[in-house]
Amino acid sequence: MKLHVSIIYGSVRTERQGIKAALFFQKKLKDLDVDYTLIDPLKSNLPLLDKMHKEYEPGEAPDQMEAISKVLEQSDGFLLISGEYNHSIPPALKNLLDHFQREYFFKPSAIVSYSAGNYGGVRAAVHLRAILAELGTPSISSMFPIAQVQNSFDDAGNTTNSFYEERSKRFLDEFMWYIRALKEARNKGIPY
Ligand SMILES: Cc1cc2nc3c(=O)[nH]c(=O)nc-3n(C[C@H](O)[C@H](O)[C@H](O)COP(=O)(O)O)c2cc1C
Repeated sequence: MKLHVSIIYGSVRTERQGIKAALFFQKKLKDLDVDYTLIDPLKSNLPLLDKMHKEYEPGEAPDQMEAISKVLEQSDGFLLISGEYNHSIPPALKNLLDHFQREYFFKPSAIVSYSAGNYGGVRAAVHLRAILAELGTPSISSMFPIAQVQNSFDDAGNTTNSFYEERSKRFLDEFMWYIRALKEARNKGIPY
């Protein structure tokens, strides 16, 4: 059975740029023959958090919440694509992440951050790493910061920057290693 990764993107802005980075990584996962689902808060239209998914009776959560829960549940890892808003992560991303809990447990995550400027969203990435640890999906050591995201990809997620092509291979190799290792470990049982 193929591995499955959720690509979790965090912006709902009309002029959003990070979607290009999400599309770039979608292609890279496809090249690796990994199944993926892009979870886009603009499409999923979750409300601001009232009840977490687990607080609903089985089958009674709103359809979109139920659908995302199922995708996260079947995922073997989570690839976060996060912009930097005032040195932290976008509110739509935090809202999306907070709706779910057990779905993340004992699976690895990896952080792609980006910004319009030259620092590639690294301050948001550091916050996100702490959040992911709390959610039960520890992030891999490597991060993938993208500076000037608006100039780095075309609308379909193609890049002419060979640096991103080369680095994405090493980054995803590391992520896949953890995905396989933790999947094997989960198959033997989880502590709780
Ligand atoms: C509310 C807000 C706050 C921002 N704060 C930062 C920031 O702290 N550091 C930074 O480098 N860029 C900042 N930016 C610029 C973003 O990096 C840039 O707009 C980026 O494209 C946002 O991601 P998105 O287009 O996917 O929404 C901010 C943008 C917004 C809308």
